[in-house]
Amino acid sequence: MQVRSAVIPAAGLGTRFLPTTKSVPKELLPIGDRPGLQLVIDEAVGAGIDHFVIVSNRSKPAIESYFEPAPALVAALEASGRRELAATISGIGSDWRVTIVYQDEPRGLGHAVGCARDAVGDEPFAVLLPDELMGDSSLLAHMNGLCLRSGGSVVALKEVPTDEVSAYGVIDPAGPVNDDGEVPIADLVEKPPIDAAPSNLILIGRYVLTPDVFDEIAALRPGAGGELQLTDALRAQATRAPFHGVVSDVSRHDTGNPLGLLTASVEWTLRDPQSRDELRSFLDEVTSRPTP
Ligand code: G1P
Repeated sequence: MQVRSAVIPAAGLGTRFLPTTKSVPKELLPIGDRPGLQLVIDEAVGAGIDHFVIVSNRSKPAIESYFEPAPALVAALEASGRRELAATISGIGSDWRVTIVYQDEPRGLGHAVGCARDAVGDEPFAVLLPDELMGDSSLLAHMNGLCLRSGGSVVALKEVPTDEVSAYGVIDPAGPVNDDGEVPIADLVEKPPIDAAPSNLILIGRYVLTPDVFDEIAALRPGAGGELQLTDALRAQATRAPFHGVVSDVSRHDTGNPLGLLTASVEWTLRDPQSRDELRSFLDEVTSRPTP
């Protein structure tokens, strides 16, 4: 069975982007020519997902507006001959469906995913953290396949230098990484001190989870940072069921901070044949100037 639903936690207040995020949700800030949220949706659509459960916050009504039909705008674009843009706008939510649910208290990622339980139902589902940007859909498609093959949850991993592990969820592998980058997982720990980290393989914000994780989430107690941590629910799953990771060498951008948003935007724009030459010459020119 194809994994159909993806949960996108988007209830955070984006304090690293204040004052912008006073009125614009950080998930709608542009990366290249579209909102970061749309890029994450595009990645999942490419992996066969057609239902998005956005976990939002009632103080961010612009998230809902983004998914609402805009017939007057589409008509105006068509009337002025901008057919491609009109098709992009009318395509939002037409081949896939959106359910908005709310997390009104910031109680952690585990709690946010738990808010999506009724909307997801009793089937495997993906979780995509919108602060992490992947280049394409291949990693998620691989994870979907491994979840269906193994019958257990799958997380995306990346190897990082040991001094970086404490900012992330870290896995304890139960065996070697195979030629396809797949690794069995014995245990997981959220933001361990460096000397207690079981490996340097970190969770990078893509998950394909079996629905029994919702029972583990419901039983969570506060973990790292006093929050209900998704990693702790996964840890409970890993002790009693097959649980795997897929190690990826994607170039990650943490778009949850201003510099990461900028580097993601540069990389994204360099992929666009219409803009890349101009951006490249600008970058060459600006970086050859003496530093102010
Ligand atoms: C969350 C997860 C963590 C993961 C990280 C990836 O942490 O809890 O396990 O490694 O995302 O970005 P956060 O960045 O929300 O602190």
